[in-house]
Amino acid sequence: MNTLKIKYSGKESLVPAARIIKNGGLVAFPTETVYGLGGNALDPTAAIKIYEAKGRPSDNPLIVHLSNAKDAEKYCFTNPLFEKIAASLMPGPLTVILPKKECIPKSVTGGLDTVGIRVPSHPAARELIALSGVPIAAPSANISGKPSPTEFAHIEHDLDGRVDALIDGGCCDFGVESTIIKLDGEKIILLRPGAVTVDMLSLFSENIVIDRAITEKFDGVPLAPGMKYRHYAPDIPLTVIDGGDNEFYSFISEQKRAGVICFDEDVTHIKFEKYVFSCGPSDNSLIQAQKLFSCLRKFENADGIDIIYARMPSKEGIGLAVFNRLIKASGFTVKKLS
Ligand code: TXA
Ligand code: MG
Repeated sequence: MNTLKIKYSGKESLVPAARIIKNGGLVAFPTETVYGLGGNALDPTAAIKIYEAKGRPSDNPLIVHLSNAKDAEKYCFTNPLFEKIAASLMPGPLTVILPKKECIPKSVTGGLDTVGIRVPSHPAARELIALSGVPIAAPSANISGKPSPTEFAHIEHDLDGRVDALIDGGCCDFGVESTIIKLDGEKIILLRPGAVTVDMLSLFSENIVIDRAITEKFDGVPLAPGMKYRHYAPDIPLTVIDGGDNEFYSFISEQKRAGVICFDEDVTHIKFEKYVFSCGPSDNSLIQAQKLFSCLRKFENADGIDIIYARMPSKEGIGLAVFNRLIKASGFTVKKLS
């Protein structure tokens, strides 16, 4: 397939991509979280094409992206708690799971009666949805199981030749996928942590439940089906190391054929010649979120190493999302140094 490449430069530049979506094709586009792979959410065959292009199991539902939260009621049954949350946090890096209406095909929702609704804030994403005139179903634009794409080069690597168009909108602001919540009466259930933090959600409910699948290996059925898959994984096994600075440096100095993901302050303490990547300052979870997936991708085709050791990040604020993606990349393998 010949893939059209578009550099985003305002609404006009998106006209051909919007036409592709309207005609049932697929377009990878930037959002403020990660790049998405979009198709018409009202067209059951577009969803099937998305699953094929990503190599994704079709029981893993797609998020439906809208240009305006006011449109949500066309596609799902909203409620007063959703209205309050949407008024303050949409557009933004948040997905809310609500009961779907008939017009959303089950091929989009992986057979579920609910649908994830998200209003991205990135102008290219909102303009693409508005120009297409339809809601856009979009998972992250990576090949299934790989780290989500946060730069144009990542979608080019994964999807060139597999989809109709790729839109270059530079680097993503947050770098981790949206926070996903489900509403149950006055209760908010956190299914996936992101840039909308638990503190931000606590302004809307005193009752916030964190799904177990976020922090621990869980063999039951997670509330977000995607959380059950091994994700974000480089080809080389990864272990998260939990320990103080000196313990970490001495542990690393004893290793051979290993790569490291650490913080800026650590780099000069690690004597390996290659494969030492920092994902930002230890006290800045936002920068860590922005850089984590590109750090993981740097290990693709890395030769001469058999294992990656990553330092345990803070779990505060957006740090919970960094922690969650990292332990998922490790298959929940954490080594505690004592
Ligand atoms: O930031 C994001 O959310 C990005 C951008 C492109 O918007 N999208 C994204 O999509 O991360 P995806 O497909 O990679 O992850 C969606 C997650 C999956 O874990 C899926 O199981 C869950 O959302 N999900 C979607 N619809 C759901 C539903 N109805 N009920 C429960 N979980 C749902
Ligand atoms: Mg994904």
